Amino acid sequence: MAGDYTLDYTVSPREIETEGSLSMADVTFDYRNLVEVEGGLTDRDLEGVRPRMQKATDELLGSPPGFMRLPKTTEYAEASARVAEEIRGSGATDFVHVGIGGSALGPMALHRALNHPYHNALSGEARRGPHIHFAENTDPATLSAILDVADPQSTWVNVVTKSGSTAETMANFLVIRGVLVGFLGDFGFQGRTVVTTDPEEGFLKGIADREDLRVLPIPKDVGGRFSVLTPVGLLPAAVTGLDVGALLTGAAQCVDEVGEIGAEHPAVVGAAMHYLMDTARGRNVRVTMTYADALERLAAWFVQLWAESLGKDGKGSTPHGAVGTTDQHSQVQLYMQGPQDKVIEIVEVERHPRDLEIPAAYKDLEGVGYLGGHTMAELLNVECDATRRALTEAGRPNSTIKLGTVNEENLGYLLQALEVQTAVAGALYGVNAFDQPGVEAGKQITYSRMGRPGY
Ligand code: PA5
Repeated sequence: MAGDYTLDYTVSPREIETEGSLSMADVTFDYRNLVEVEGGLTDRDLEGVRPRMQKATDELLGSPPGFMRLPKTTEYAEASARVAEEIRGSGATDFVHVGIGGSALGPMALHRALNHPYHNALSGEARRGPHIHFAENTDPATLSAILDVADPQSTWVNVVTKSGSTAETMANFLVIRGVLVGFLGDFGFQGRTVVTTDPEEGFLKGIADREDLRVLPIPKDVGGRFSVLTPVGLLPAAVTGLDVGALLTGAAQCVDEVGEIGAEHPAVVGAAMHYLMDTARGRNVRVTMTYADALERLAAWFVQLWAESLGKDGKGSTPHGAVGTTDQHSQVQLYMQGPQDKVIEIVEVERHPRDLEIPAAYKDLEGVGYLGGHTMAELLNVECDATRRALTEAGRPNSTIKLGTVNEENLGYLLQALEVQTAVAGALYGVNAFDQPGVEAGKQITYSRMGRPGY
């Protein structure tokens, strides 16, 4: 096949036929400006890496890592939906999701993308679920603030840790537990607590058994940063009224398409492109610039996925998140004229879920009047296109991921595609994308300093 290989740099999964039906996910990937830009990648570069792309994809499909089967596994969505119904039906006012890293970033990305940006400020009728709070860092100011606003009489806590002993998560949990036990007693605390963890082992599982707490499983073969489509992401999504079925449907379409077209899939092609930009062009900074505030946390999720999966053995490119247009007034100067070390990946939204017309006013003032009659979404997308063109003309490689709109199905597709891309990139770099030995050293020192036995 290598000889027949031609790459269409604009790949639209919408046009890929899978299992007799057209994919519904509206997500496209456009890599043209990684090739056509001055100093960009050539067909030869891609031909060189083609056998390894093929091998990596064959391995991904031949013995799929755990995250590849999640979209077609209904048991986690069903279990999450059952617990979510119980929480919603109990008159919960507040839901505190306790977790860090892969146990927090996915749910935060879904919440920010798909719920109202001021969800917690909406009235009960307008909100689709309880207030949601994320206790991630161990900063006491944040946890105190959560405790300031959450009503302990009607707060639920969901403690999420695959290992079952992450110090940050357990500390946040112990504080919240103390408050809930104080207000509700042991029985009341038990009635308002969910544990999302390894279903067979770990200290948290031990606590759950001892105190008879509800347990939602994080499958053994799915690591934290690949776990957004397990109860880690699905429970908070369901609690806040998101359509978890549509999330899985979108993700399943991605899995089907990768199965169908293998190394031609844009997620795989993107892995090769970004790998080559780093290793063959010295562009070791990968910026994800989202032209929608709602996708800001998606970039944060991806930054962790890429960094923790690939930053090993002296390899890996450094991911950054940026938001358009905001960072046009902060970062773009650097992207345009700073060191030639970056690849900018723009995430564009074709149809924004909401729009506002800009009223016509001050027509006599040429610097203002021209805006009247346009819409805010139009301005955002024009600025997105303008940034892309300016980068291209300045010889700055960039690519675009375009979402038809921000909805569950497209998000599910994109999350899965970026996980596929990261796993394939791991194979191209020759690193294990699924471990994180580099974070262990700091943990050991913390345990020792805080007096954990055995450290
Ligand atoms: O992606 C990962 O594996 C990590 O970021 C973990 O999610 C993070 O360290 C938290 O681990 P745990 O879920 O065991 O508390």
